[in-house]
Amino acid sequence: MSTTTPVGVLGTPLDRVDGRLKVMGAATYPVDVTLPGVAYAVLVGSTVTSGRIRHIAAEAAQHAPGVLAVITHGNAPPLGRGPATAIGPQPLPPFQSDDVLHYGQHVAMLVAETTEQAKAAAALIDVTYERDEPVLSFDDPRTSPVFHPWTPDTLRGDAPQALAAAEVQVKATYTTVANANSPIGLFATVAVWDGDALTVHDTTQYPHAVRDSLAAAFGIDPVGVRVLVPFVGGAFGAGLRVWPHVMLAALAARVTKRPVKLVLTRAQMFTSVGHRPRTIQQVSIGASRDGRLTAVEHVSRSSIGLADELINLITHGTPNAYACPNVSTRASQVRLSIPIPGWMRAPGEAEGSFALESAMDELSYAVGIDPVELRVKNHAHVDPGTGLPWSSNALLDCYRQGAERFRWSARNPEPRSMRSRGQLVGYGVARGALAAYQPPCKAIASIRRDGTAFVRSGATDIGPGPYTVMTMLAADCLGVPIERVQFGLGDSAMPRAPQEGGSGLTGALGNAVQATCVGLVRAFVTLASGDEASPLKGCRLEGITVRNSGLQITDDPTRFETYADILTRHGLDELTVEGESAPPGETSSASLIVQAGRFIPYTAPSTGTRAHAGGYAAHFVEVRVDPDLGTIRVPRVVSAVDGGRILNPTTARSQIIGGIAMGIGMALLEETVSDRTGRLVTTSLAEYVIAANADVCDVDVLFVGEPDSMTPLGTKGVGELAITGMAAAIANAVYHATGTRIRSLPISIEKVLGHEPARTQTHSSLEAIATTTANPRHDPI
Ligand code: MOS
Repeated sequence: MSTTTPVGVLGTPLDRVDGRLKVMGAATYPVDVTLPGVAYAVLVGSTVTSGRIRHIAAEAAQHAPGVLAVITHGNAPPLGRGPATAIGPQPLPPFQSDDVLHYGQHVAMLVAETTEQAKAAAALIDVTYERDEPVLSFDDPRTSPVFHPWTPDTLRGDAPQALAAAEVQVKATYTTVANANSPIGLFATVAVWDGDALTVHDTTQYPHAVRDSLAAAFGIDPVGVRVLVPFVGGAFGAGLRVWPHVMLAALAARVTKRPVKLVLTRAQMFTSVGHRPRTIQQVSIGASRDGRLTAVEHVSRSSIGLADELINLITHGTPNAYACPNVSTRASQVRLSIPIPGWMRAPGEAEGSFALESAMDELSYAVGIDPVELRVKNHAHVDPGTGLPWSSNALLDCYRQGAERFRWSARNPEPRSMRSRGQLVGYGVARGALAAYQPPCKAIASIRRDGTAFVRSGATDIGPGPYTVMTMLAADCLGVPIERVQFGLGDSAMPRAPQEGGSGLTGALGNAVQATCVGLVRAFVTLASGDEASPLKGCRLEGITVRNSGLQITDDPTRFETYADILTRHGLDELTVEGESAPPGETSSASLIVQAGRFIPYTAPSTGTRAHAGGYAAHFVEVRVDPDLGTIRVPRVVSAVDGGRILNPTTARSQIIGGIAMGIGMALLEETVSDRTGRLVTTSLAEYVIAANADVCDVDVLFVGEPDSMTPLGTKGVGELAITGMAAAIANAVYHATGTRIRSLPISIEKVLGHEPARTQTHSSLEAIATTTANPRHDPI
């Protein structure tokens, strides 16, 4: 047993506890799972964009070598739709009609002894379609905007009036394109039935949602469905919804009475697991001549599938971004014949912050104020919506410390004034922010007679590092050396956890793990307290310190006993306790903060006294633009981040670097392209270009701020924060370098050189909607 006195590992930089498994190739991702007797499923996608399946000639495929089943809408059973989760409705189940709503829609599934046989048979499938004219434009008269009830308009003060009266006005339209989550690991599902019990290995960020959706699909009890995903791989939001292929893998296993493995192809990763929708946004800002905001209007339109619902967060961050008395936002969605969009890192806020933070940069030139100073001047010292103080907010420190680290003061404010070695040099800045989010979460914790701790919850780890930080947290809360703590996740048989998404898992899971570990220590205290034979007789939780895998009376180091001793004397193999997190801003009986092994009461701020703050960032970017070739490099980025309490600087920093890399991709490289018939052209990583290592140079991350007061753990979530504002910071730097304002992503060479191709989208309908105030709400489908 270790004899070190734990002073706490939280807050120290620690390498991933699962790092060794990953580099050894020993971490088992869903795509790695094989089972005895497994058969393989392959999906055939629609080659047309819109219409009807008239006929599927499957005879040849059925008789091809090794084929076990050919399943289409013609022979598939009815499949129920999965229940909506807190993050929205699930996609429609597959193979339920002959409708074709988008290119790449699954229309047939081949199941065979080998993948090669299934693929060969798939090539023999001949589908005859009846084609319709697809709806591809925001201005197609056959479609009309959808106003999602979960995306309410905001109206504070009188924005139109204040805008009209403003001394300075900036009004501009920005566009962003569809982006694809491009994890290196292909999404895979392996399904096996045992009677009416179903076990599924699935690439998902939300095992319990997969469980519930599969139960609904097949009309079985969710308790009989087990979803396993100890390692997800990258997902970035693609694994937040339960996609049709997951149901199809389970259906294939049901039909063939065999375990079935289904791995999406790279091309299917672009059509079958969602994408960031495209947007057109208009931002109008009114300000006084000295740069004080008087009005902000933000109107957006984004793409959505023909028969789908997706929460729309594009204007979500705008009302609270700055201290401004008059704000209005409106966000609508337009149904298009496109593969259905889904979630992608900082969904909505990544797109919305590009428009708002570009417009703020435009304002800085209009009023002649440094863009950092302009933001400082309009900083929301309190929540602009309620007037309440923030639960924590270090954004001003982000601006100041970031600017200093970046040496922002070396910037010549004149656009196109800085050069180095024949390259135009530009400095850009933008504000990043992500709203606070902490869904409910449960956990379970055990200490065993061998002195080891086992803590688990049905969450996932898509890379941010829950395995690592939850191990650290449990070690600190229990006073057990980190190498004797095991944290388990990725199994729907474990207590229910929310999705790893919305940057809310560290808070949700961390507060649950802390509460559960406190409950476990409390159970040991209860055992020892009433035990005449224990040196801890009569102890109370408030008076003990956890250390060396046991409990000590804080004021008397001689009164100490290990967990193992307590268990042994009571003839127990282990003690196990379940627990859950309290909602933010609430104090539960288990709400204690563990510091240096002691338990200190946590009291939430009194109801209605604090506005729950999210994370904040200030991004400082240098770009170098070749004036002749239009190529753009990003040699350095400084991001100052207020993420509340940072549990592990190593893994938190990785998350920020990842968000910055995706921001560089979004700003400069990534674009999903369709032809005029709506067929996707970019269906491989050769055509869909993401930022690679060579595109991401010197990235400097600074953490500022302090633990947030709204929950015992004090974290704010950093997974998505870094991509918010990142595309704008780059666009603003490009403007500073070149004098060319580029309002449409990605910032391509053609645009920099002034050869921007004509956009297919027109702006007329967006402007019409910006000037109306009524919201013609539509009921969700
Ligand atoms: Mo993120 S889009 O919430 O995985």
